[in-house]
Amino acid sequence: MKKIIKNGRIFTEREDYQADILIEGEKIMCIGKDISDGDAQVVDASGCYVIPGAVDVHTHMDLDVGISRAVDDFYDGTVAAACGGTTSIVDHMAFGPAGVGLHYQFEVYKKLAEGKAVIDYGFHGTAQHVDEDILAELGAMAADGIPSVKAYLTYGFRLNDADVLQILRKMKEINGITAFHCENHDVVEFLKQQYKKEGKTAPVYHAKSRPNLAEAEAVGRVLRLARMADDAPVYIVHLSCRESLEAVREARRQGQKNIFVETCPQYLLLTEECYQREDGLKYIMSPPLRTRKDCEALWEGLSDGSVQVVATDHCPFNYRKEKQMGKDDFTACPNGAPGVEERLMLLYSEGVAKGRITMNRLVETLCTNPCKIYGLYPEKGVIQPGADADLVIFDTDASGVITHSRMHGAVDYTSYEGMEIQGQICQVMQRGKVIVKEHQFIGEKGAGRFIHRKPLEKGLFQSRS
Ligand code: URP
Ligand code: ZN
Ligand code: ZN
Repeated sequence: MKKIIKNGRIFTEREDYQADILIEGEKIMCIGKDISDGDAQVVDASGCYVIPGAVDVHTHMDLDVGISRAVDDFYDGTVAAACGGTTSIVDHMAFGPAGVGLHYQFEVYKKLAEGKAVIDYGFHGTAQHVDEDILAELGAMAADGIPSVKAYLTYGFRLNDADVLQILRKMKEINGITAFHCENHDVVEFLKQQYKKEGKTAPVYHAKSRPNLAEAEAVGRVLRLARMADDAPVYIVHLSCRESLEAVREARRQGQKNIFVETCPQYLLLTEECYQREDGLKYIMSPPLRTRKDCEALWEGLSDGSVQVVATDHCPFNYRKEKQMGKDDFTACPNGAPGVEERLMLLYSEGVAKGRITMNRLVETLCTNPCKIYGLYPEKGVIQPGADADLVIFDTDASGVITHSRMHGAVDYTSYEGMEIQGQICQVMQRGKVIVKEHQFIGEKGAGRFIHRKPLEKGLFQSRS
């Protein structure tokens, strides 16, 4: 089946031009002016932008956090993602039972995703302890299409500095990349207990127990460990504050290479004032929401290239159910918030339409960079012949309001309720098939495929990393 997307304004990370796109089967065949083909179905994109399908490299579908489970499984969560213009995800696998190898969770997650995901998906490995077997298994995971691993510096299965150094060395050897959740665990635990003892159990104390400097300290530590591992590739997930960004800039000023930084819409747009609202539990996530000054610093970092990726950390728990576990004690609330559907709308409306970032930068940070860093490029994240026909047609003139009833996930709220949005998604295509039209999901359960990702390619990444 052939399709021609006619008269769209195509944006890539560098270009902005008017052209037609010919799609044959699952792939982009050619791009040019006035393409015609009697056999092709024509999709009129006049007046609209056409961008690569967005890629979300930080989701937690069906995440088991022990006290509960994220409420979007791989079906609900990927339907929501698709409706928000995301055509691939790379999901962070949960911790497994103590002592298991990396492949244990891979097997679990294959079963969670297969037959459910409606868009293409990959997984990041999760390192929950380090020994010779785990180090050897990192190479085997990469050979199986998982050249990335996540290390947590807080939570139950956090790694210590020696663990981190060994992982970084090994990942560098295999051209893999290590993603880090950076918070100083001892400081956070101490402050949580202090507030609890003082009877300070409201949601705002979640934020107070996880200060900016507790994150920045851990970011700085990881960067130094990466430097000790001969500039091993390091990816900081959900960076949320100006001090952490400063630590990254300082490391780069010192000449350190291979540092990649992700932030999320919630850290660009929402502030700690949310914790004072009566529904403050909705915003319990780690790191917590910060101040307006932090949001502005992150926008600047996004605009000047200090930040490479905007992902979502989608990890939804119902406000009326799971989140209520924290109503008398913030430490008992499952951490995480939804956001997989809202990302592109928010970044266009609050970023591009308000002049904070360019449209090219949006494409770079939501589509192209995630693919280059995590081995999905050039099949995904770009509009060029040979790439998968994963595309979003976006109408910048249309507007709307974000409201829960228009969202497609299983969770009972959106963090952005009532926000007015400039720009709307008209159509989403995955590998040449229209899967979203006029806010409706029209794709197929289980049509998503596992993406066998490649190791980090030297020289592919030309940005200020
Ligand atoms: O609070 C959050 N972010 N929950 C999801 C797990 C994580 O730390 O990324
Ligand atoms: Zn995290
Ligand atoms: Zn996360």
